Amino acid sequence: MKIVKKIKSHFFNYTFIEHIATGESYNTNVKLQRNLDKSLWVGKISRPLYLPNVNNRSESYSSTGDLLDLNDRALLGFRLARSVGLNSLRVKIIPFKIVEEFDINTLSHARIDNYVFLTPFKGLSLPQYLASKSFSSLEESDIKNKEEAIRSFIFNLWIGNYDNKDKDYLVDNDSNLISIDYHLLGPTSQDNKNLSLGACGEMFDIDNSEDTGWCVGNGELLNYIKNNPNHRCFDDTINKINSISKRRIKLAMRDLHFYNQGTQQDINRLFLNFLIERQVKLKKTIKDWIKADYPIASLPKQK
Ligand SMILES: Nc1ncnc2c1ncn2[C@@H]1O[C@H](COP(=O)(O)OP(=O)(O)O)[C@@H](O)[C@H]1O
Ligand SMILES: [Mg+2]
Repeated sequence: MKIVKKIKSHFFNYTFIEHIATGESYNTNVKLQRNLDKSLWVGKISRPLYLPNVNNRSESYSSTGDLLDLNDRALLGFRLARSVGLNSLRVKIIPFKIVEEFDINTLSHARIDNYVFLTPFKGLSLPQYLASKSFSSLEESDIKNKEEAIRSFIFNLWIGNYDNKDKDYLVDNDSNLISIDYHLLGPTSQDNKNLSLGACGEMFDIDNSEDTGWCVGNGELLNYIKNNPNHRCFDDTINKINSISKRRIKLAMRDLHFYNQGTQQDINRLFLNFLIERQVKLKKTIKDWIKADYPIASLPKQK
């Protein structure tokens, strides 16, 4: 290796260690080591998301285009999570070309771009953690910040992350829950400004109680919320989210670019309005969902 290349490799590059969550994900997740300080990271390589054809539901899941702005959506999710005071992670987006010992041509699927979305490696996912310590529920576990399940659910409803589930939480060395996976959130197009991008590229409606269940999933997080209707925590989180100003959201979006599926048509203004309009809806939506006994819509959704 030439000396300049060696220096660059030492200071800037990462080395592939292994695949993780294989068989569990639509995307590819890899463990990487930063050459400079040997720190460990998880890199997500996102696969284009083919949206169901909403105008022709008889052909569920037929593609009408794909979304390529998912890394920008995730970056916004992590930034807003921090503003709301959720336990969150540092993130970085790096080009494939600085990842060593990983041949991108071996990827089994298409990719949204030539970048990898990084978070610091932090132990086990929530289901793995509970199983490893033989806890039968989140409630009876030794996890310290259990109310993060409530805070995070409300936050995910705000940003329109309708693909949230137990596997989207990590448990760190201090037994604290950390919410990850903010790639599917926000509006998808000008035509459906109330609808959010969620699981399987489906679109979810804040005014539909059944849809709300997709912001928490139907596992241990849901059980915890059902068994601990801590109104103060609900209210505090809603108030905290409502205190995030338009200026602050704009700042979080400053260098990001969101666009209509399959096009480069800018929807940044729509995105901003989407977040602002949802702040005031949170209270009623949650109340309706609890009153309806915590439903979750089955997929594929009907029109
Ligand atoms: N920073 C991290 N540290 C440890 N494990 C991680 C980390 N990020 C992701 N994982 C693992 O990878 C899985 C998938 O990650 P996630 O961000 O949810 O992507 P997706 O579900 O879209 O593939 C998680 O359930 C978890 O097991
Ligand atoms: Mg996930």
